[in-house]
Amino acid sequence: MPRTPYNLLTALALAALTALAPHPAAAFDKGPYVQNVDTRQATIMWSSASSESAKVTVRKPGKNKDIARVIVPSTNCAPIWEATVNGLQTGEHYVYTVEQGADRAEGELQMAPRAGKPFSAAIYGDNRSDPRAHAAIVDRVVQDDPDFMVHTGDLVVAGSLEADWQSFFQVAQPLLRNRPLFPVAGNHEQAGDDEIERFRQYFHLPNGEFYFGFTWGNLRFLAIDVNVRADAGMPDAAQTAWLVDQVRRAERDPAITHTIAFLHQGPFSSNPVRTGNLGVRDLVHRLYDLGLDLLVSGHDHYYERGRAAYGLNYMVVGSGGAPLYPTRGPGDYGAYQAFQSISQHAFVRLRSTGRAVNLCAVNLDGVAFDCFDLPQNRSVARP
Ligand SMILES: [Fe+2]
Repeated sequence: MPRTPYNLLTALALAALTALAPHPAAAFDKGPYVQNVDTRQATIMWSSASSESAKVTVRKPGKNKDIARVIVPSTNCAPIWEATVNGLQTGEHYVYTVEQGADRAEGELQMAPRAGKPFSAAIYGDNRSDPRAHAAIVDRVVQDDPDFMVHTGDLVVAGSLEADWQSFFQVAQPLLRNRPLFPVAGNHEQAGDDEIERFRQYFHLPNGEFYFGFTWGNLRFLAIDVNVRADAGMPDAAQTAWLVDQVRRAERDPAITHTIAFLHQGPFSSNPVRTGNLGVRDLVHRLYDLGLDLLVSGHDHYYERGRAAYGLNYMVVGSGGAPLYPTRGPGDYGAYQAFQSISQHAFVRLRSTGRAVNLCAVNLDGVAFDCFDLPQNRSVARP
């Protein structure tokens, strides 16, 4: 259809207005996004083809004075850049700015609180394959304003596909800009020998490992890797020894009230065509005996909450946007009992008072449809 003079004029006027508009805040390929926050330090990451040096500054909201400044030299760290900021204060809220050449972007930092202080977190996973459903989850989690997010894996369809990562970061940017994501690798991040490389590069995780731990207030979180440092779903010997030691330490730490572990392929599955990850069952049982309070997994694209026959509370949170899988529903399956099991997109809201911990599954309408309190003061026989 030929353009009418009116449309031509309108187009010219819009072009002129666009030219007069302020320059967009940033042209980073990904991010900036927050990683590896604890009580004193945080890492800011972004992706850019720029070869110029970069500056990251941190200040308190509404203040002009920089509290911290990190210069990232123009070495060959492109395209993935990162700056770790030290000397920040426990529980404090900050804003940060990344400047690189003509690009500039801001975000927020929420530092981990000391034990005993209240906070909230979000747990989700398996967002792969459907950016629109993932965006709906992200929108709900943003409204919840958690301190941080735990991700149970399968962030992308194939870990080697850069376009998938670009889509992931684009969709999740409203979350990732201001709060750290702590992910474990799913089977889709590790479908080939070198596929895990991008996952490794894009996330700056505690320990610099695929399995790691972090503390937020009264909670100790442990990421169990069953895809990279593992064989047939079973963590390797080094990781197993580390996990056992970590649960023991958390159990003896008076500041930690609960230990929560998360992994991709969990030990129990109500998917009619799956058995669950049998390779990790014995280890998880052992960790429970040592003091583990909750296990959260993904891989099955539904929401489920239940309890192992020996007592461990578990959740399956593979409901973060990927096409839903069927579930056999609530019931007693011998090795475990499922109290709730539903094919529905959802994330889990965790709220801690500083001692008591409540978890709720929240659907895309914002409705909390399954809530429970983590038992307190569970007695654990110490070896
Ligand atoms: Fe998976």
